Order: sequence, then C-alpha cells, then structure tokens
Amino acid sequence: MHRTPFHTHMKWRVIVTPCVLKVSLWDSDEPVPRAELLKGVAGAHGLLCLLSDKIDTEVLDAADMYYTVISTLSVGFDHMAMDEIKKRGVRVGYTPDVLTDATAELTVALLLATARRLPEGVVEVINGGWSTWKPLWLCGYGLSGSTVGVIGLGRIGMAIARRLKPFGVKKLLYSGRTAKSNAAEVEGEYVPLDTLVSESDFVVVSCALTPDTQGLCNKDFFCKMKNTAVFINTSRGAVVNQEDLYQALSSGQIACAGLDVTTPEPLPTDHPLLTLKNCVVLPHIGSATYSTRGIMAELSANNLLAGLQGTDMPSELKF
Ligand code: NDP
Ligand code: DGY
Repeated sequence: MHRTPFHTHMKWRVIVTPCVLKVSLWDSDEPVPRAELLKGVAGAHGLLCLLSDKIDTEVLDAADMYYTVISTLSVGFDHMAMDEIKKRGVRVGYTPDVLTDATAELTVALLLATARRLPEGVVEVINGGWSTWKPLWLCGYGLSGSTVGVIGLGRIGMAIARRLKPFGVKKLLYSGRTAKSNAAEVEGEYVPLDTLVSESDFVVVSCALTPDTQGLCNKDFFCKMKNTAVFINTSRGAVVNQEDLYQALSSGQIACAGLDVTTPEPLPTDHPLLTLKNCVVLPHIGSATYSTRGIMAELSANNLLAGLQGTDMPSELKF
C-alpha cells in the first residue's frame, strides 16, 4: 500500500503482509494528528480514514493520490473533498446499510430521552431534587397521536420512521429532494420542508450534510416550529445553526432538542447549549455498538483491499 519507507512514530506501526502489501497503521483510538497524517500518507496507494480525518486537497497532494483508493469508516462523506477526489480518479469506499439499525435505534433513544426528560430526571434523583410525586413535575411530550417529520427519508431516516410508527405516531411527514417509493411502508407523506417544520411535533434530521443542507435548521426554521415541538439531529452538526438553536431553546420558541452531532466535535464543555436543561447532547455515538463498529471495520478494510486490487468494492460510493 505504501511506496516509500515508513515514518517512525510511537503510534505508527508498519505491518508487512505476505507478498504485496505494506500497511502503515495509526495504532490508537485517538485521531491521527494532522501533521502525522500528512507525513504518513506520502506515497500511499490507499488510505483508510475516519470521519474525523479531513481529506482535503492538502492530504491528497501529500499522498500524491491519483487513481488510487480511499476507504472511510463511515457512511457520511462530508469530511472528504469529493470534487477533488473525483478529478483525481480516486475510488471511494464507505459503510452504508451496516450502521443503519444502530443509528436509527440511537435516534429513537435520543428522541425519547429528550422528549421525556430522562437526563434531567436522573440528575434530580441523584441530587435530591426528587421530593415526592408531583402532578406536573418533569412532564414531557409523548409520541402517541403525534405528527413526526423526518428530514431525509434515506436509509437511516426510513429505519427511524419504521421504529417510531409503532409508538402510535398518527402522521409521518418527510421532506427531501425526491419522494420515496418505499415511504408507503410507513405511510409517509412527502411534503415541502415548511409544512413539515410547522406541522410536526417531532422534527428528526437524518439527511446528509451537503451545501444545500448546511445551516438548514436556522432561525427561520426554528421560528416555524411549534412551541411544543421536539428537535432531534443525528445527521451532522453543520446542518444546524447552533446559535439559532440556542436562541430557540432558551426563548421557549421550541420545547427541547436532542443532538448526537455538533459543531465542533467535541463540543467545548463551556458551550452555551450545555447550560440548557432542555438540550440533550450526545458525543456522536449513533453507530456505536460493538457489533456495528466491527462490521464497519471489516467492510472498510474489504473496500480498501478491493480498491487496491482494482476489483468491485463491497460498498463503493458512486459519485
Ligand atoms: P442516505 O443517502 O440513505 O440518506 C440521505 C438522505 O439525505 C436522503 O434521504 C436524501 O434525500 C437526504 N437529502 C439530501 N439532500 C437533501 C436536502 N437538500 N434536503 C433534505 N434531504 C436531503 O444516507 P444514510 O441514511 O445512510 O445516512 C444519512 C446521514 O446520517 C449520513 O450522511 C451521516 O451524515 C449521518 N449519520 C450519522 C450517524 C451518527 O452517528 N449520528 C451514523 C450514520 C450516519 P433525497 O434522496 O431525496 O436526496
Ligand atoms: C457515519 O458513518 O457517517 C457516522 O457519523 C458514524 O458512524
């Protein structure tokens, strides 16, 4: 995989596999520092990266990558400069489908935790705030009889909708660029974004981050939501304007929000959103089950190997 001698660093390990491949491995769960990445990719024929590695022109230049392969351990590919990658004829492997169930499950967990105020309740039990049973204490919002709006009824959006319907959801709205033929399965109604935002009791964002969706959830968006509505984002942080979300939450414009993704990641511990009781923030753990991460790892390694061999990848991104 590597054309040049390997760089020495405590955490780089060089693995020479029989016959052909030399693998330079960043042997840590912590992200590879940028400077190390730039050094480490020099002359590589292939690169297996994480969503926390920004694969831009600088990295592609450092690797001198043309007609090679990049495999990302993620379904999202907004961390990669796709135009530049395309120009250079680089093939890209990614991990769709295998993480859909885990991410949908986490989205439902976050939605329920946010709407039913679970983190607040846990804290009250620990800090002695639980004095007695009180009729209106820690009341939240339920799914039964509600209208749910899903922004981006793709693989994950659909899996979220399938899981939410049995909670007694009355109406399922969705928006995106195109109506979906499989939406009938969840009785999904394709509506303009404005309709979804103003009619939904729960707004769930599960679209890809693109130039069109960047900052989609802004002041204008939150102003159209109901005061009793719950906002959930498990797509990418940059789909949301966080200053506008903070205003919407602190002013009571919307009821509460649950975020698995933020800008930046990690969210600084002194970030204003973390001061709000009605905002639940998770550290980007949508796909974090042991089995899902294992399958993602295997798939991304197989994508890389197939790309290097010039054969069909198990999951190649067509762009
Ligand atoms: P899909 O490609 O199946 O779905 C993406 C969806 O985004 C499509 O339904 C698409 O709609 C929609 N979309 C694209 N552009 C727009 C737009 N302008 N307005 C509204 N919707 C739009 O991908 P997945 O469902 O597999 O994954 C979705 C995203 O979830 C990933 O890109 C990633 O960012 C995020 N993710 C987060 C995880 C986490 O840990 N929190 C885990 C896994 C994924 P259309 O088809 O109509 O264009
Ligand atoms: C992805 O795959 O895009 C997620 O954000 C992490 O699994």
